[in-house]
Amino acid sequence: MAKAKASEIDFNNLGFNYFDLPYRFQATWKDGQWSEGELTEDAEVHINEGSTVLHYGQSDFEGLKAYRTKDGSLQLFRPDRNAARMQNSCARMMMPGFPTDQFVDALKQVVKANEDFVPPYGTGGTLYLRPVMFGVGGNIGVHPANEYIFRIFAMPVGAYYKGGMTPTSFVTSKYDRAAHQGTGQSKVGGNYAASLLPGDEAHQAGYADVVYLDPISHTKIEEAGSANFFGVTKDGKKFITPESPSILPSVTKFSLLYLAEHELGLEVEQGDIFIDQLDQFSEAGACGTAAVISPIGAIVDGDKKHVFYSETEVGPVTQKLYDTLTGIQFGEIEGPEGWVVKV
Ligand code: PLP
Ligand code: COI
Repeated sequence: MAKAKASEIDFNNLGFNYFDLPYRFQATWKDGQWSEGELTEDAEVHINEGSTVLHYGQSDFEGLKAYRTKDGSLQLFRPDRNAARMQNSCARMMMPGFPTDQFVDALKQVVKANEDFVPPYGTGGTLYLRPVMFGVGGNIGVHPANEYIFRIFAMPVGAYYKGGMTPTSFVTSKYDRAAHQGTGQSKVGGNYAASLLPGDEAHQAGYADVVYLDPISHTKIEEAGSANFFGVTKDGKKFITPESPSILPSVTKFSLLYLAEHELGLEVEQGDIFIDQLDQFSEAGACGTAAVISPIGAIVDGDKKHVFYSETEVGPVTQKLYDTLTGIQFGEIEGPEGWVVKV
């Protein structure tokens, strides 16, 4: 694959696609410690055939973004939260955590080294950062590896769900994303491998993504395939997101819970959202780093279809949340202390 050239990228029409940018960061874990790590131009990784990531899925990853502000400076959004979540995922996968300070420093190195690829302010585009860790080395038994690679690569991105802030339809699935005492709360490769088939079935049927139901009773909304779920009650006063041990603790979701309460003056709740009681909601959306806030126009569950605010227009609370969140991320609005980290 040819190296990407910034001059050949249309930053106004980015989707969510891989680019081979000039630099990525890599550190290796050997003999019980992390190497210092360095930037490398090599997008390929040469690993042993017995690597635990290949057979047993010993891997985890993160996703966050760098934003270009109006004055041209670059900033990250809550990178310490991604560092902490990755450490939790690593503990679940029996992998060595990567320290927060080094994690944030490595992110800054990758952003600076690929600065030309951070989309201009006003395009809505961002530089997506993908930290990933995996077990390598010659192994065959089902045991954690002795050696690991930690990498952070980057790519310019636009909307994850086609249409961005245009509402899309989601569909429930007969498949579970994760078990309650499984790995749902960790950002590990296997969760996404398990979601490929349900995701493909949803896409083939014309939906943006799956809305997974809880794995025990199949009556409560858990989350979308790549984003958390939220609803706004009909009176416009309450912001609700599901609570479950098998959903990914979304940095965006926790940010929205805070902003809904402190900036929009809404009541907020993490609780049950029953799939057969969607009538109480006037608005719904999917939220995450890649998804940002994607309004959900309708959810189809079997032969029932529930339309929220509209299938073509964005509801007022969703719009306000979007403007507040992205305003902070792009440096137009001052966010809570520590949310924005300058590169
Ligand atoms: N849920 C899943 C399954 C995800 O893959 C993601 C993406 O990271 C999210 C939720 C949203 O999390 P965050 O807001 O931290 O990006
Ligand atoms: C993200 O929002 O960062 C994600 O990881 C979602 C998806 C691309 C897996």
